[in-house]
Amino acid sequence: MTPHKLLITTAGIMCMALSSGVALALDGASLYRERTCIACHGDEGREPVMSDYPKIAGQKAPYLLAQMKKIKDGTRSNDSSIAMKNVMHLINEDEMAVVAEWLANLPR
Ligand code: HEC
Repeated sequence: MTPHKLLITTAGIMCMALSSGVALALDGASLYRERTCIACHGDEGREPVMSDYPKIAGQKAPYLLAQMKKIKDGTRSNDSSIAMKNVMHLINEDEMAVVAEWLANLPR
């Protein structure tokens, strides 16, 4: 392989890696792990680490999304969700919607 072809091949592989990275970033299961939700709400939103933390799998997506937004912007702060507020800078609204859809489609 000539150096020129090698360069083109390398660039091609990097493009593939980058585009698959973007696809992954908007995959609910990956976001749920990467943005630390799993640390408190447990595997697939069904095994919260504390008995007073909510199970969120199988809940309606609009409700899930609304609560995430309220916890993030501080509208909802009268309960232990205050613990969650600290990580909400890690996730934007589009990503929250993806996670909400993913959670809603999981068994309860
Ligand atoms: C530090 C622990 C922690 C982390 C991390 C965390 N949460 Fe939470 N979450 C909580 C707690 C605690 C509550 C509220 C419990 C209560 O109402 O008293 C909550 C509430 C929620 C609710 C509302 C549930 C309901 O029934 O009203 C949703 C939805 C939610 N979390 C999703 C997420 C998502 C998505 C992530 C990741 C971006 C996340 N949480 C990260 C602890 C956490």
